[in-house]
Formats: sequence, C-alpha cells, structure tokens
Amino acid sequence: TWNSGNVIAEQVEKIRAQVGDARVICGLSGGVDSAVAAALVHRAVGDQLTAVFVDHGLLRQGEREQVERDYVAATGIRLTTVDAEEKFLTALAGVSDPETKRKIIGREFIRTFEQAERELVAEAQADNRPIKFLVQGTLYPDVVESGGGVTAGIKSHHNVGGLPEDLQFELVEPLRTLFKDEVRAIGAELGLPHEIVQRQPFPGPGLGIRIVGEVTKERLELLRAADAIVREELSAAGQDAEIWQCPVVLLADVRSVGVQGDGRSYGHPIVLRPVSSEDAMTADWSRLPYDLLARISNRITNEVSDVNRVVLDITSKPPGTIEWE
Ligand code: XMP
Repeated sequence: TWNSGNVIAEQVEKIRAQVGDARVICGLSGGVDSAVAAALVHRAVGDQLTAVFVDHGLLRQGEREQVERDYVAATGIRLTTVDAEEKFLTALAGVSDPETKRKIIGREFIRTFEQAERELVAEAQADNRPIKFLVQGTLYPDVVESGGGVTAGIKSHHNVGGLPEDLQFELVEPLRTLFKDEVRAIGAELGLPHEIVQRQPFPGPGLGIRIVGEVTKERLELLRAADAIVREELSAAGQDAEIWQCPVVLLADVRSVGVQGDGRSYGHPIVLRPVSSEDAMTADWSRLPYDLLARISNRITNEVSDVNRVVLDITSKPPGTIEWE
C-alpha cells in the first residue's frame, strides 16, 4: 500500500545515487510541486542544493514570506531570493494585451532565473564543485499529458516547472511517478507549511494576468489587498476544500459611479471568480453562500480604496476560461 514515508525514503535513496556529491539548483515558485521536489532533494543531499526564488512583484500578499521564512524554517534549505519587481514592471509598462503580458512575464522569468543560475554556477566553479543538476517538480500527469491537453494553444502557460531545457544540467525529477494528492501527502509528511502544501492553483504569471489593463505597482497593491480579503474570508468560511480556486480580478480600465462616505466615487470593479473543478479543463462557477459574498463585498469596498464595486463571475468553463487573461 502507498505510504508517504516509504516514498520519501525511496526517493531520497534515488536522489543520492543520481547526484553523488555534485551540486544541485532548483527554482521555487511558492507552489506545492516545486516546494516538495526541493524539500525531497534537500533531505537527500542537504546543502549541495541551492534554491532560487524569483520575486517578480506579481505575487500575492504573504507569499514571499511563506517561502523565505516559513518554508526555509521548515526545511533548512539554502535559498537565494531575487528581487525582480522593478525589472518586471518596467518590462510590462504600457502593455495591456493578455498574450503579450504572458510572453513578457515568461521571458523575464527565464532571463532572471538564468542570471541567478550563472552567478551560482560561477561561485560553485570557483569552489571546484560544479552544479550538475536542476530539480523539476514534474508530476505524473505532466509526463502523461506533455502534449498540453485541450487548452493547449489557447493561452501560453508559464510556470516554474517549465524552465528552458538547459542542456548543461541533468534533471532531477523526484515527483515523476506521483499524483497531486500524493505530492501533498509527502509535503505534509516532510513538515512543509500548510499554506504551501494545501495551496490552490495559482498561475505562474501571477497577478499580472489578473489586472485587466496595464500592470502598475499601484494596481498590484490594490489587487493584492482585495485578494487577501477574499482568501481570508473563504478560509474562515471553510470553503478552501470546496472550491478549486477563486481568482480575484481587477478591471483596471473600467470605472463606475458609486456613493461612498460623503459623496460620489468613481472607482474600479473587482471581479470574484470562484470555480469548482476536477482538473481545470472544465469548471463551473461555485454557488458560494450569499452571506459570505456579502461579507467579502463589504470588506473590499470598505477597506480597499479606489474599489467601489464587487461583481461575481457566473460563467462556466467553457465558454469562459478560469482566468480572465
Ligand atoms: P484557464 O484560465 O486556462 O486556467 O481556464 C486553467 C488553470 O490553469 C491555471 N493557469 C496557469 N497556471 N501558469 C500556470 O502555472 C499559467 O500561465 C497559467 N494560466 C492559467 C489557472 O489558474 C487554472 O487553474
């Protein structure tokens, strides 16, 4: 029978045999796959592994701290964080088209990671212990469906698992035979933070594709605040296990008239997109309780300045995709 303790012991053996005393690097995204893959490799070879986390400025509230503080405390992993917010915002300035945004974010991500990689490679070389391996959090379904599935071609997906195949490294893929729920069980067994192990899907391009319109620092701050409220209220209401995910979208190019406090307001709408799904290929909109929706709406319009309206997306997939861009 399947047992996370056995799988960990088995993988640790395999990783040690593959890696020997060479050095290893990996990218962390804040998501469960890369976090568990890196933790397994760290358990196997300790400080031979260096993890790289790119803060592209498109993360949600608390995500960087979860990785830098909680994940590092839980694993003892050696972590390099790259501050790349400026670089990403500069590259995204003036861009509203969704596919263009996705391409820019994907390109900047690869460039940023490769830059960090080169620095680490140079350091290791100077130490005479070259980096030979790159960890990837590839799961069994990724291996089987590497064709991309039904939505291939609709949006250019980007995630940390999809870094360029840099031929100077051999891949270490300790999750290749596992399904998502098995990966979560292993993450829990390894003592990783609950927020990471149970995290719902979140796109690699992050909040950059949840602002309809140009991405700016101010708009990101606004969306981050609204998103934090939504996540807090959904968790408090016990909805985390019920819904698949709930994108929160800022319609930055839309304004509507409202009345707030003493007078007229002219602010932006926030869209809630709670969905139920098995695999994200199809989805239905989640019938959240009205009192929960009311609480979220009240809090967002009271606490987030420049937002005066909250709307609910009641479209299934198809025809709507889960994300708005
Ligand atoms: P759509 O919007 O195509 O999303 O219905 C399906 C699922 O994929 C997630 N998503 C992404 N995940 N990189 C990712 O890692 C991406 O670029 C990306 N785009 C969408 C989305 O959140 C949903 O779970």
